[in-house]
Amino acid sequence: MTAADAGTDGGLDFVVHDAREVVVGTGDEGLRRTVDGAVAVVDGRVAAVGASDEVCRAYPPENAHESIDATGKTVVPGFVDAHTHACFAGDRSDEFVAKLRGASYQELLAQGGGILRTVRAVREASTDRLTADLLAHLDVALAHGTTTVEVKSGYGLDVETELRMLRAIAEADDHHPVDVVPTFMGAHAVPRGTTGDDYVDAVVADQLPAVADQGIARFCDVFCDEGAFTPDQSRRVLEAGLDHGLTPKVHAEELAHTGGARLAAEVGAASADHLLHATDDDVAALVAADVVPVLLPGTAFSLGGDYADARAMLDAGAPVALATDFNPNCFSRAMPFAMTLACVGMRLTPGEALVAATAHAARALDLDDGRGTLREGAPADLAVVDAPSHVYLAYDLDVNRVETVVTGGEVVRRD
Ligand code: NIG
Ligand code: FE
Repeated sequence: MTAADAGTDGGLDFVVHDAREVVVGTGDEGLRRTVDGAVAVVDGRVAAVGASDEVCRAYPPENAHESIDATGKTVVPGFVDAHTHACFAGDRSDEFVAKLRGASYQELLAQGGGILRTVRAVREASTDRLTADLLAHLDVALAHGTTTVEVKSGYGLDVETELRMLRAIAEADDHHPVDVVPTFMGAHAVPRGTTGDDYVDAVVADQLPAVADQGIARFCDVFCDEGAFTPDQSRRVLEAGLDHGLTPKVHAEELAHTGGARLAAEVGAASADHLLHATDDDVAALVAADVVPVLLPGTAFSLGGDYADARAMLDAGAPVALATDFNPNCFSRAMPFAMTLACVGMRLTPGEALVAATAHAARALDLDDGRGTLREGAPADLAVVDAPSHVYLAYDLDVNRVETVVTGGEVVRRD
């Protein structure tokens, strides 16, 4: 369709115009932006982005099904939250208090708390309950500008419950404007009363074939760390996942350095996540293998510890991505908060944090449809931010500046 046609045949879905700043995506100097910009959307995709007067001449807002005057505001690509455990049940707020009193994450897990406690709650919860709670969490994420979110299973640790979690995740995807990317994570913790090796046997022999059979996961993730799975055990799971068509992801070098990053590079993972203890050699291996480092500053913040060395990764040429890691141990669904922590805790600029939360995060999910940018042809997933620049997303500590959220050219949330 040409620009002229778009205005007359009803195909013009949406125009946002006169924005103080439109963030288009990545560019030579980090962030590519247009001042006094507009975005026109046809058939759910970005048809034009650029100077407001030019875009509006070709795609008159009055011909669109919907238009927004964004005078004084900022338009950014919708956030891609590339790592969450947003499907769960139960309450672990008392562990927040226990950690403040000095208990470590590993101690709680070793005592049957942490992940294992959520497993008990999820096994008792109905699939409808899991779906309803996940939908409520997606509402919060959307309100903060997230339009795509990865959600992992991993609180079932048996065939039936892992499948129920993935079904709840698929149901939520069907009933919510946020696009949900499902990941199977049967190897999230070793259930009590079994060994890592025996449990990995069960994941490979029972869980993975059942998940693959139903076609309800895109990725296979594993918690490769101290107190969880060894690199050898993790490799077995990820290679079996590959045999079933699931792309690997690795929780790597979070609590200790155990070799998860190297493993991610060796198996060709889409991402290696956490990386607090990654070495320079690990980072070089990830860059060489085109594995996206996904950093989760909310988790580092919640555990009161150190942050990953994002600057070293950027200097090494890595496309650093950000995610919330939303889970009962890190109770945040808001990508702007992850940006704030990335800036204050890891010294990223707001522009670097925004690219990490959008374009680079899309790479961590192997999404190559332009998502995470507002380039021509990209899905029209965007947020209108009530602020004169993207900097406010990270800078404003207590007001949600996201005002309107659009997915596929449709307004799905208005403040
Ligand atoms: O990424 N580290 C392992 N998994 C999650 C935590 C899940 C939980 O504590 O329930 C994470 O931080
Ligand atoms: Fe995680």
